[in-house]
Amino acid sequence: MVPQNLKAIHLDYLNSEPTHSASIIEVSEACSCSEKMTKKVLEELSEDGMPIKFDFKTVTLLNPILSKTSIINQLETERIGHHIILLQSVDSTNDYIKKHLSSLNHGSLVLAHEQTVGKGRLGRQWSSPAGKTISMSLLLKPSNQKLRYSILTQMAAAALVQSLSANNIQAEIKWPNDVLVHKKKISGILTEAEYSGSQLEGIIIGIGVNTNLDKEDIPLFLKEKASSLKIEVETVDPNKIISKFLEFFETYYESWLSDQDSKPFLDVCRKHSALIGHQYWIEDTDSRRKASIDSLDVDGALVVTYLDTSETTPLISTHYSIRGDNGYI
Ligand code: BTN
Repeated sequence: MVPQNLKAIHLDYLNSEPTHSASIIEVSEACSCSEKMTKKVLEELSEDGMPIKFDFKTVTLLNPILSKTSIINQLETERIGHHIILLQSVDSTNDYIKKHLSSLNHGSLVLAHEQTVGKGRLGRQWSSPAGKTISMSLLLKPSNQKLRYSILTQMAAAALVQSLSANNIQAEIKWPNDVLVHKKKISGILTEAEYSGSQLEGIIIGIGVNTNLDKEDIPLFLKEKASSLKIEVETVDPNKIISKFLEFFETYYESWLSDQDSKPFLDVCRKHSALIGHQYWIEDTDSRRKASIDSLDVDGALVVTYLDTSETTPLISTHYSIRGDNGYI
């Protein structure tokens, strides 16, 4: 096993010019390693599943990957994202934060090239193959214990859509936690709160983005529903998406903390909603009812009118799934 820091140094160098083919000699010199060691590092990275192609003489990073330096160089936030941990592989970035909660400060960001047990909403799995997705978890430690944190999923969805838009990608939000491009899911958000007794210790906003997955990386049973930015639009630099996301998120969060005004980010969710103005099935564990989707209320709840009873109600719990006649949407 080669040391993790050597892997990081090699990845950082290759990531300075992704998709460019470099000679092994050039890489070994730039990383202050022997050629033999560089080859060993590249071999292990390739075994880890990182998107690199190499032979005896040359190596190519096939798409841009996560880089702390790149995020920090672009970041314009006051507090959020100033402490970044980038892991090669982890079970789940949300669970990593839970395990290290007491030693991590407000605004810490944990990223991983790969997650082995990524978690989705409602106990679902979330797949994060090495070097082709964003797996990130942001830790918030608000001093206000009474904070209604469920609205933070909408805040994160709005910040992500704005970040994608700043990167020339038009996306929609499928309440409560999916972000879509061309009606296919390219991102999911999992917000969790950690308590010690009745004391709120931290809120974790976990976001997975399918950035540079290729068609063959999407399992057959998900092809109708899920996709990636690379498949739908073009190869993207995940670091640009993350730094812009953090900026939008911080702006919404700080202003919401100071005046509890959810309008700025909920307006983004409303404008980019994939659901409002249409009819969908509202499913929970024991029912499935058709409804017209009316709006998003001030608490971020989806307001629907059931077609069978004409009752109009906000969906308070986020345990619902919204489905189209033929499946996902
Ligand atoms: C969903 O669509 O149901 C939510 C998916 C959330 C996935 C992200 S990836 C980073 C963070 N770590 C996890 O284990 N899950 C979230």
